[in-house]
Amino acid sequence: MMKSLVLPEIEAYAEAHSMIESDVCRQLREETYRTMECPQMVVGPLEGAFLKMMAQLVCAQHVLEIGTFTGYSALCFAEVLPHDGKIVTCDSDPSSTDLAKTYFRQSPHGHKITIQLGPALESLANMTGPFDVIFIDADKVNYVKYYQRAVELISPQGVILIDNVLWNGDVMCDPPLDASTAAIQELNRVVRADSRVSVVLLTIRDGVLVITPNRAYKASR
Ligand SMILES: C[S@@+](CC[C@H](N)C(=O)[O-])C[C@H]1O[C@@H](n2cnc3c(N)ncnc32)[C@H](O)[C@@H]1O
Repeated sequence: MMKSLVLPEIEAYAEAHSMIESDVCRQLREETYRTMECPQMVVGPLEGAFLKMMAQLVCAQHVLEIGTFTGYSALCFAEVLPHDGKIVTCDSDPSSTDLAKTYFRQSPHGHKITIQLGPALESLANMTGPFDVIFIDADKVNYVKYYQRAVELISPQGVILIDNVLWNGDVMCDPPLDASTAAIQELNRVVRADSRVSVVLLTIRDGVLVITPNRAYKASR
């Protein structure tokens, strides 16, 4: 169960005053909650609206996602990409991505989405950028590696978004409770110390890092 960082009624108010969740996304979220273990992995309507806003702000054409699950966040991105925009989404679990595919087929934006099945580190090694948005939302122990590859693949005007960086508040624990907590703490330190980028940690849902390349790094590429 994820702790809510804000009062549930404030969360509901924010959701009710942000862009409306599409019918396909709502049905996908509801089926995920009915049928899947750990349905709370879905980012949900408020963070989904935030992802869409980020993609719109950078006029995204190409999006890379690490962690598809049942496809909710991929569909959010697809809904704001232009007709010829593309999102590649990576996951190693064929059963959750099978559900994703049924909803991608129902959406007028599903043709923009390609699922890359397999361990994400292997998929990323063969990936060529640049991507305008990179969303990292998979196994936490590999977060630093995903981040390092994302910095190589991000376009100069692009944005890297990394989910669950507060990890239910467990990032405050010293020593860390487990390997995932330690990995997220390490990521948060590594990104803050990386002179190639600017970063802000937003307290949306379970915490989202918003990262963009700095001027000098853009010029060097
Ligand atoms: C938090 S869920 C993604 C949720 C999704 N972004 C959404 O909002 O609907 C994390 C996903 O990462 C996938 N995953 C975990 N480790 C992975 C790995 N090493 N390679 C690829 N996918 C992985 C899991 O199968 C799971 O579906």
